[in-house]
Amino acid sequence: MKKSNLVAGLDIGTAKISACLGSFDRNDKISIINAHSVCSKGIKNGVVINIKELTDSIDGLIKQLEEKSKSKISSVYANITGHHIKTNMAKGRINISAKDNEITRLDVNRVIDMATNTYIPFERYILHIFPLSFIIDEQLDIKSPVGMFGKKLEAELHIITALASCVQNIAKSIRASGIEIAELIFSGFATANAVLSEHEKDLGVVLVDIGAGTTEIVVFWENNIRFTEVILVGGDCITEAISKELKISFEYAELIKRRFGCANPRKLNNDERFVIKDGRWQKGITRRYLSEIIEPTLNDMISQIKSKIDKVQILKRVTFGVVFTGGTSLMDDFLEVSEDILGMPVRLGMVKDVISNIQNINSPDYLTSIGLVKYGLLKKHKKIQTISLNFFDKIKFKWKEFIEEYF
Ligand SMILES: Nc1ncnc2c1ncn2[C@@H]1O[C@H](COP(=O)(O)OP(=O)(O)OP(=O)(O)O)[C@@H](O)[C@H]1O
Ligand SMILES: [Mg+2]
Repeated sequence: MKKSNLVAGLDIGTAKISACLGSFDRNDKISIINAHSVCSKGIKNGVVINIKELTDSIDGLIKQLEEKSKSKISSVYANITGHHIKTNMAKGRINISAKDNEITRLDVNRVIDMATNTYIPFERYILHIFPLSFIIDEQLDIKSPVGMFGKKLEAELHIITALASCVQNIAKSIRASGIEIAELIFSGFATANAVLSEHEKDLGVVLVDIGAGTTEIVVFWENNIRFTEVILVGGDCITEAISKELKISFEYAELIKRRFGCANPRKLNNDERFVIKDGRWQKGITRRYLSEIIEPTLNDMISQIKSKIDKVQILKRVTFGVVFTGGTSLMDDFLEVSEDILGMPVRLGMVKDVISNIQNINSPDYLTSIGLVKYGLLKKHKKIQTISLNFFDKIKFKWKEFIEEYF
C-alpha cells in the first residue's frame, strides 16, 4: 500500500485523545489500519486549558501511532467541539445577471457569499457549509443550480461555526507538535460519518455523542444535516456526583463508575456489594446505592438532550430514532433508560462501511477519529458532498474553490 494514500484522524476529547490511520484498499473499501489512544491533558469540554500539555499529549500519541504503523504522519483531519460551536440557518438571494439567465458557478458563489455575510458574524470561523436547497424563481428544492435558467437564485444553507479563539488554540496545540491540519471538522459531524448509514440519514436519525465533557446532538433527514447543538454535559458530571457523595477523589469515582455503574437502580437488588477504600478507611457499598447516585444526573442529561431534540420538532421526520456514541452510553442499562425518557427507538453506534482488524474498533475511543479518517479519504478522493473550509485560508475566498469543485 502506498503510504501517501494514508489519512490520519485526530480526536481531541476531554477524557482521551485518539488517532486512527486509514486508506482505501484495493477493492475501494475504507480500511482502518491502526489506532491508538492516550489519556487527555490540557483540554476540557472542547476548550484548550493548557496548550503545552495538549501539545505534549498529541505529540506522544502521534509518535506511538507512527511507531505502530511504521508510517510518518505529517497532517491530520482533527475534530473540534465545545459550547462555542454554533449552527446557523442562512439564506441568500441574488438576481442573475447574464443576459440569457443561465446560472453559473459564480452566481452560486455569490448567493452563498451573500448568505454567509448576512448571517455569520465576522469573528466566527466557518467550519462547514451544507447547502440544503436552492430556489430558482419559484421552483423549490433544486439541488444543483449550475447550468439551469432563472432570474432569481436563492440558497438555504446550514452553517456550522466556531469561536475564532478556540479554533486558534486547538490549531496552535496541534501545529506545535509538528503536525499540519488538513481540516478541522465538527466532532458530531465526524462521528456521524463513522456510524450512520446513508439510508438512516435520508429517512431521519439523531446522533448523540455523550463524551466526558460535551454532548453533541446532530439531526439528519433527507440526507442533510438539519440541526446541531453541543451541550456541556457528559460523563464527568456523573463522576463528580459520585465523588461528592462518596467523598472520594474524581479518579477513584471514575474507576468505580466504569466498573459498577448502572443507569437504573430499580434493576438492582441489595446483594451486589463492593468495597471502596481510601487510605485510612474502607466501606461496603451496594451497586444499587451507586446507581441511585448516578440516576438523577444521568436522567437530567438525557432530559436536556430530549428538550433539544423536541425543539426541532422532528418526531415525524426521524424514522430511525437516536444513535448513541461516546463512553457514557456504555453504562449498564443506559439504552433502556434513555429510550424511556426520549420516547423514541435508540441504539448504540457501530462503525459502518469500514474494514479493520483492530479488535475494539467500535470502542468510543475510536469512533470519532474513524469518522475523521472517512471524511478525509472521501474528501481527498472527491467523493464527498459538503463544502467546508480549511481554516488557515482566507475564508471569503477559499470556500469558493470548494464550491466550484462541488457544483
Ligand atoms: N463503561 C462505562 N460506563 C460508564 N461511563 C463510561 C464507561 N466507559 C467510559 N465511560 C465514560 O465516558 C466518558 C469518556 O467518553 P469519551 O471517550 O467518548 O469522551 P471524550 O471523547 O474524551 O470526551 P468529549 O467528547 O466530551 O470531549 C468518561 O466520562 C467515562 O467515564
Ligand atoms: Mg468525544
